Amino acid sequence: MSAPPPHQQEQSYDTLMFLLVMPRPDRAGAVVPLLHRHGPCAKSPSTDKPSSFAEALHRSRVRADYIMSRALRGRGTTTIMEGKVSIPAHLGTSVDSQEYVVTLGLGTPAVEQVLLMDTGSDLSWVQCAPCNSTDCYPQKDPLFDPRKSSTYAPIPCGSDVCKSLQSNHLGNGCSMNDNGTQSQCGYRVQYGGGLKTRGVYSNEALTLAPGEVVKDFHFGCAYKQRGADDKTDGLLGLGGAPQSLPVQTSALYGGSFSYCLPPVSSGTGFLALGAPSNTSGFSFTPMTDFMDDGTSYLVKLTGISVGGKQLRIPRKVFEGGLIVDCGNIISHLPSTPYAKLRSAFRAAMAAYPLIPSDDDDTCYNFTGYSDVTVPKVALTFTGGVTVDLDVPNGVLLDGCLAFTESGSDGYVGFLGNVQMRTLEMLYDARGGGLGFRAGAC
Ligand SMILES: *[C@@H]1O[C@H](CO)[C@@H](O)[C@H](O)[C@H]1NC(C)=O
Ligand SMILES: *[C@@H]1O[C@H](CO)[C@@H](O)[C@H](O)[C@H]1NC(C)=O
Ligand SMILES: *[C@@H]1O[C@H](CO)[C@@H](O)[C@H](O)[C@H]1NC(C)=O
Ligand SMILES: *[C@@H]1O[C@H](CO)[C@@H](O)[C@H](O)[C@H]1NC(C)=O
Repeated sequence: MSAPPPHQQEQSYDTLMFLLVMPRPDRAGAVVPLLHRHGPCAKSPSTDKPSSFAEALHRSRVRADYIMSRALRGRGTTTIMEGKVSIPAHLGTSVDSQEYVVTLGLGTPAVEQVLLMDTGSDLSWVQCAPCNSTDCYPQKDPLFDPRKSSTYAPIPCGSDVCKSLQSNHLGNGCSMNDNGTQSQCGYRVQYGGGLKTRGVYSNEALTLAPGEVVKDFHFGCAYKQRGADDKTDGLLGLGGAPQSLPVQTSALYGGSFSYCLPPVSSGTGFLALGAPSNTSGFSFTPMTDFMDDGTSYLVKLTGISVGGKQLRIPRKVFEGGLIVDCGNIISHLPSTPYAKLRSAFRAAMAAYPLIPSDDDDTCYNFTGYSDVTVPKVALTFTGGVTVDLDVPNGVLLDGCLAFTESGSDGYVGFLGNVQMRTLEMLYDARGGGLGFRAGAC
């Protein structure tokens, strides 16, 4: 029998994934398994192909642009909006680039929902019934039906929870009852690249793991979406604002959370709420809030090494910091560090043929090589915390160096999810900053 064409192979990824408990004796909080969007265990994988590097790069740049513009909203300045945005025409309308999903239970009885995980936004949402094919995009699972849940309730319009949406630019006003009174709290989110969602901000029971139920989790019952290119049921917001899952559950889990992104798409990582009781395995670097936007997490890079050799890069070019963004695929560095990293990497990889490209991509043709030796790349953060990226999965994506240029020196960059692979990334709400632990998944 001949091999099925690639498209059909993608569809065979469609295996069921159930809510699992991953025993973590070191932690009081909840742990849920985390899957790559295109992995064989993702319950609602997109049937499209895993993204090529060009598409990943495009999505990543659109995403970076969005996070920047949101942080700058209302500041009356666009002076630092000089990030490189080149959008190849052959790519379709791409939206956001969140790449990892978790499966959670929503409602009573709990219904499994596959959600994209995003540290770059706060409000979580799922598409809700009734919703027709004009207003809701096609998803793999049946729509979540609040009428079938005994714990569902829309959030009242005049409540503080509803008012809090306005301050995070998520509010959409209140809907009217048939009798003309105001009742339900509307939310609205617009992501980079055109994905929009709006609906009713609601209360519901959220099951993180069997027996681990968050009562009154605030989320959006989504009734009108545009521009989605995923088949997932919705999104899980992990940003720093009050609407995010870790902040909402801070009374239960302390507000800290961590995750480990699996190195290959067939692997399983985890998302954990609550900090481990013993953090001796972690190295911490200070973390701040990007431009006080309340949502994005910022750390500072101080150096890069390739193959064990420190690159000579003046510290001040890193001044803009790096936004830690698990929804962004590729890391973005200011121009000097990017150029130095690229040339050192190319020198170390001189044995392999580079694929010619109009862009300044660094992509290799490994056809015919049974063994490829990729140099170690390490990032050093404030406090002298040096993190060895996974080799090769934390460095290469589809045979390409998974870094791009964010803009001129001093410009803010992004730490993308390729570089986070296999590391446990601990967002410590107790003021410890961002912790890295190697070899966690
Ligand atoms: C879908 O529902 C919306 C709102 O209920 C309505 O305006 C629209 O006409 C419907 N579209 C179709 C194709 O039924
Ligand atoms: C208006 O309708 C809502 C929902 O149907 C109901 O809860 C509320 O009591 C009504 N208000 C008045 C003044 O009739
Ligand atoms: C924390 O874990 C490390 C090894 O992982 C161990 O050496 C240390 O004793 C532990 N500390 C506490 C307080 O349990
Ligand atoms: C990669 O190399 C193989 C063998 O040398 C060649 O046949 C193929 O065309 C190359 N592919 C690209 C994209 O350059």
